Amino acid sequence: MFSHVEPFAGDPILALVEVFQADPRPHKVNLSIGIYFDEQGRIPVMRAVQLAEQRLAAAGGAKPYLPIEGSPPMRRAVQALLFGADHPLLSSGRAVTLQTVGSSGGLKVGADFLARWFPGSAVWVSDPSWDNHRSLFEGAGVAVHAYPYYDAATGGVRFEAMCEAIAALPPRSVVLLHACCHNPTGVDLSPEQWDRLIPLMHERGLLPFLDLAYQGFGSGIDADAYAIRALAASGAPFFVANSFSKSMSVYGERCGALTVVCPDASQAERVLGQMKATVRRNYSNPPLHAAGLVTHVLADTDLRALWEAELAEMRERILAMRRSLHGVLSARLPGHDFSYFLRQQGMFSYTGLTPQQVDRLRDEFAVYLIRSGRMCVAGLNAGNVERTAEAMAAVLGAAA
Ligand code: LMR
Repeated sequence: MFSHVEPFAGDPILALVEVFQADPRPHKVNLSIGIYFDEQGRIPVMRAVQLAEQRLAAAGGAKPYLPIEGSPPMRRAVQALLFGADHPLLSSGRAVTLQTVGSSGGLKVGADFLARWFPGSAVWVSDPSWDNHRSLFEGAGVAVHAYPYYDAATGGVRFEAMCEAIAALPPRSVVLLHACCHNPTGVDLSPEQWDRLIPLMHERGLLPFLDLAYQGFGSGIDADAYAIRALAASGAPFFVANSFSKSMSVYGERCGALTVVCPDASQAERVLGQMKATVRRNYSNPPLHAAGLVTHVLADTDLRALWEAELAEMRERILAMRRSLHGVLSARLPGHDFSYFLRQQGMFSYTGLTPQQVDRLRDEFAVYLIRSGRMCVAGLNAGNVERTAEAMAAVLGAAA
């Protein structure tokens, strides 16, 4: 019956985590997946989340289905987080938010909606982008192309080439953008670059789709929402899929949302309706526990302050790891420029290591990166950062 089914080649990120878990070497270092690990190498349970869980447990009660579009208080809290409390969009009826199964769920609901209602539109993703962007949209039947983004020569953005490519897209093309902490490169657009790109997309009648999976890991919760707020101010319609997996360290709870800003409230209502139809056909309705956690943390003043402080500590720790890597590598290989570690934002660093160098790091030194050369800096700690930098220096030095 199933002999015609082709084997799955494996996901480049999740399959590597399985290989890492099976590796018996005690000194192994996991810099593959986008997960924040603390100084002890553990996935932290944030205090604000623990307190939210205690309150949820104390409240007890039944566990009904949520509405298809998710919990109303969570959806309101997400809008306030994205646009800022008291933003006019919150009461305009123009912005609709659905609670989704992580931001991957938001991307998938958005992709299904686009396949149905924008059948002639293709999605354009950055070159490079998170591998699953392509899979998610292609899986939904949407054609995917790439626009220029990362400049290997400078470690920056090929901004002029990016704008030129985007300006040439047919109207109603979808432009997928990383709102902050670009995955996989760590190279973000500056506010000035967003300010040039947004009117360009608006004039061309393009549909921006922002992925905000790492809010708070770049420059701060509000600063990382710069692109969202600039788009909101422009009056342009756009999508944003956001995640709490990393920012609340609740990966397996699948806490995310999809928000669509529409030209008016009547269009917004229709968009929400069709999104609900998509959700019903996919997974029916989103998880109750996820909604409770996110709502408590975002809407309770004390928990919110605690969460923001904890997230700031995580961000600072990643910055310290970037400085350590930069210090050791610059001392070992003075001819190389490692300043990219200091310029990139968020969990990821595009190291420029070749797939062969990545393989050598894994085989000889038990240091795991994905083969594109992307490193999750958030997997480093005081106990492994020097060893990792020495291993990188050995691999890069051999190539020099
Ligand atoms: C990553 O890029 O490593 C994370 O977003 C986890 C994932 O699902 O790929």
